[in-house]
Amino acid sequence: MDVYEAVRSRRAVREFAGREVPREVLERVLSAAAWSPSGSNLQPWRVWVLTGGPLAELKRRAGERVAAGDPWDEREYEMYPPDLESPYRERRAAFGRERYSALGVSREDWEARQRAASENWQCFGAPAALFCYIGRDMGRPQWADAGMYLQTVMLLLRAEGLHSCPQMAWSVYRRTVAQVLSPPEGLVLFCGMSIGFEDVTAGHVRTGRAPLDETVTFVEGSALPSPAV
Ligand SMILES: Cc1cc2nc3c(=O)[nH]c(=O)nc-3n(C[C@H](O)[C@H](O)[C@H](O)COP(=O)(O)O)c2cc1C
Repeated sequence: MDVYEAVRSRRAVREFAGREVPREVLERVLSAAAWSPSGSNLQPWRVWVLTGGPLAELKRRAGERVAAGDPWDEREYEMYPPDLESPYRERRAAFGRERYSALGVSREDWEARQRAASENWQCFGAPAALFCYIGRDMGRPQWADAGMYLQTVMLLLRAEGLHSCPQMAWSVYRRTVAQVLSPPEGLVLFCGMSIGFEDVTAGHVRTGRAPLDETVTFVEGSALPSPAV
């Protein structure tokens, strides 16, 4: 699979088949992803991979919390700015509309939306998951490094015929994740990621993207005067 195909075919899959993901495939992907770039080569990500019994136990504990209506853990970072400005506000609203209408869930049906969201904590049926932590003292550039790393992982998973769903949602049950993983002090859970084979019988709606000229500006030609000497 070439890189363009990996990029285009990657999407947040929310319906996985039960088929196991071989350990050696995960090792191959994560060994290659280690070559992701990072400022001064800090490699600030710390990753845990869960499969089998430990993942089942995490899903069970998270499911219990969802069923009990437990409050979310206090946040260690804000997922979004409190007042998203245009065009981000509209893009977020469009995403929500598309996602829930694809599921046949109306905007007003809060319970059905909650039920759909709670699939996050069952990893959408995936048999493998990773959890990416980052040091509490790390700054924005290192969070960006972690993002590049996770995208590299997701593209390599495509090369292996696998799919993924990155999930900030796990950060709201970070204490439950920590009970299962026992990460050392001083780490913040940035993101989980469900990993597995896609359930090809499930339908999905492809998300759209802003047109290129909304997000990219080319500066070229002879418009700028040459700098004064
Ligand atoms: C850092 C990050 C966190 C995300 N967290 C979640 C999540 O918690 N649950 C979820 O269903 N999707 C999550 N997503 C998936 C996004 O909704 C998805 O990437 C976006 O809508 C674009 O769709 P696509 O990935 O299918 O192209 C996350 C994506 C990123 C990059």
